Amino acid sequence: MGKHHIIPVNRPSIPRKANAYLSECVKSGWFSSEGPFVRRFESAFARYLGVKYSSSTSSGTAALHLALMALGVGPGDEVIVPAMTIASCYFAIWYTGAKAVPVDVDAETYGINPELIKKAITKRTKAIMVVHLFGHPCDMDSIMTIAKKHKLKVLEDAAEAHGAEYKGKKAGSIGDIAIFSFYANKIVTTGEGGMVVSNNKKYIDKINSLKSLNHSKTRFIHEGIGYNYLMSNMQAAVGLASLEEIETSLKKKLAMAAHYTKQLKNIPDIILPIEKPWAKNAYWMYAVTLNHKTKTTRDRLMKTLMTNYGIQTRTFFYSPRTAFKKLGLYKASRFPVAERLEKAGFYLPSGLGNSPKEFAKTALALSKITNT
Ligand SMILES: Cc1ncc(COP(=O)(O)O)c(C=O)c1O
Repeated sequence: MGKHHIIPVNRPSIPRKANAYLSECVKSGWFSSEGPFVRRFESAFARYLGVKYSSSTSSGTAALHLALMALGVGPGDEVIVPAMTIASCYFAIWYTGAKAVPVDVDAETYGINPELIKKAITKRTKAIMVVHLFGHPCDMDSIMTIAKKHKLKVLEDAAEAHGAEYKGKKAGSIGDIAIFSFYANKIVTTGEGGMVVSNNKKYIDKINSLKSLNHSKTRFIHEGIGYNYLMSNMQAAVGLASLEEIETSLKKKLAMAAHYTKQLKNIPDIILPIEKPWAKNAYWMYAVTLNHKTKTTRDRLMKTLMTNYGIQTRTFFYSPRTAFKKLGLYKASRFPVAERLEKAGFYLPSGLGNSPKEFAKTALALSKITNT
């Protein structure tokens, strides 16, 4: 199969105004984080979400680290985290010296299971990190109620859920603090980049200092250890151009999901993503699972899609036992749902630049493979 025939899992779409805004950076000579697009992008993003404060970062991973530090998480603390998410969530907790306590996910939404959160709380628990996976929000009312009862902070990882909603509120506007990633495959993108948002000014002030070497009022005299987690003016220029198109992008994602759902709903072997009555799924990626009774395996299916049809797909994240086995961690822990999903889950080509023709080809290939 020639390379040009491949249907990539994420074909990016270039924001219409990216070129013009990047040219402004070049013309003005503003390349660094001091440039005007950084502030413009930060305010526009906060306005979009309906939160008061925002601070851009070099990545979503850096945003997670900064958010945890702002919450005061450190050595001796425990942070509850879903058993199916990107390693960034665990790494960020470890950067602070705290312990990551995994909790299994919900079989339908793939978000952290609130019932299991209760069981994982100890005297050392400081915060709950929730991840709105693949664009579907978590059950936030249940999580906020538990957090309030136990005086815990809630950090929302909305890296994959730009524009998703929980009971009419935007994902990332509900917890004490939230983060976003603007990696190239995200709905709003800066290539590489991230953002922390909060209604608490103290958190964002602290983050603004920590991410820029933690200078005190006197430059070069430092409050403590600092970091360079800054976003450049060029990244923010692309981010602003991308944010200006978010409504169109979200519509494209909905159309993509509708397309797949229509064509796949009669294939009994493929279990489709859901949308809870209280949720607006942003469908960042169209995530499906293979029925356990299917003759083929998920891995064989993915391989056939690539070798016979040139269709790229990607597995879900792995449970912490698998993801961190080389680190010798979580060997004795069991996460039945995450462990099932790591073997059965995969997502289909879902990028903003992927075409309806590519969705149709993918659906047809899936129906052929599962029928044989
Ligand atoms: C849920 C989630 N959290 C955090 C991140 C980390 O973001 P970044 O890649 O920008 O560091 C990602 C992925 O990119 C993600 O999907």
